[in-house]
Amino acid sequence: MRSVREPVVEVLLDSDWAASGLVQDVRRGLGAVPRSLPPKWLYDDRGSALFDEITRLPEYYPTERERTILRDHAADIARTSGATTIVELGSGTSDKTRTLLDAFTATGQLRTFVPVDVSEATLREATAQISTRYPGVQVEALVGDFTLHLGHLPRGGRRMVAFLGGTIGNLYVEERAAFLGALADSLEPGDSLLLGTDLVKSADRLIAAYDDSHGVTAEFVANSLRVVNRELGADFNLGAFSYVPFWDPHEERMDLRLRAEMPQHVSIPGASLEIDLAAGEEIRIEISSKFRPEGIRSELAAVGFRVVETWTDDADDYALTLAIREHLPHQR
Ligand code: SAH
Ligand code: TRP
Repeated sequence: MRSVREPVVEVLLDSDWAASGLVQDVRRGLGAVPRSLPPKWLYDDRGSALFDEITRLPEYYPTERERTILRDHAADIARTSGATTIVELGSGTSDKTRTLLDAFTATGQLRTFVPVDVSEATLREATAQISTRYPGVQVEALVGDFTLHLGHLPRGGRRMVAFLGGTIGNLYVEERAAFLGALADSLEPGDSLLLGTDLVKSADRLIAAYDDSHGVTAEFVANSLRVVNRELGADFNLGAFSYVPFWDPHEERMDLRLRAEMPQHVSIPGASLEIDLAAGEEIRIEISSKFRPEGIRSELAAVGFRVVETWTDDADDYALTLAIREHLPHQR
């Protein structure tokens, strides 16, 4: 008989979003031209539910591709990483992660699972389900921001950090380098990173993946303004915006914006901000960068991760990379 371990949920973020940095982000992003908003504010309860719906859309291929690669190679990943702790950043429902948990419990090596997400309700639900399904695994969830809270990851044992879903592509290049550097610094030599990245492909397929025929993605992106309305008492008229996703071939990223179709004055009292949007003015809500295997390898090498395996699906749509934190000190 194995003992059932009670899951632990540690909250590092203030549940009051206004206090959690939304005010600062809104002042900085919406108060400047060109206007923008950082993507973590997309994931309130409604946003998380909409994202979950996106992962089941036929046009949104990354989830299914990543799931297939995980299924084919989970046993390999368990053996090569030798990890006793899996940390998952931006874990969401941790749905695909169960493939890893299955493989790591089959060998008997897994002791601890640490899902980390800003979306508290989604994380609590996932934590409850996973601790029931894997009674021998200690689940230590962190409600936190992976750009701020890597210092809070538990220490000891051999760790593998899973960062799936192409979420790394939602960071800007400079943010990505800072994030990877901080992640490398928070790991010990021999620990590893399992990174999921969407690959560069035809613009048609990329645009379809981010502009589905049912309008779920448009709804998801518009939800960011709904969050600002609710949390900061703003009066964005959601009906006056249209969703504009496009492929930027130079930056090799999807650029996802909302365009004000008519001039509008917006009050955001919670941020003491009044803004005037011109007709046609756009707010960038998110980018989703697409990668090439050699680029991934060099970005990882720059911070001290050595790639040991890169797996792709049959169509080369998506890559899963396993990299080990090296002993060598790195320079930044
Ligand atoms: N890993 C899942 C979910 C990807 S969606 C998958 O592969 O399907 C991105 C997830 O990251 C969401 O659950 C969102 O709440 C979370 N997230 C976004 N920004 C974050 C941040 N800065 N810190 C922690 N979690 C974040
Ligand atoms: N990490 C996901 C991605 O970049 C997030 C995402 C999926 C997303 N669909 C989206 C973000 C639509 C904004 C709009 O693919």
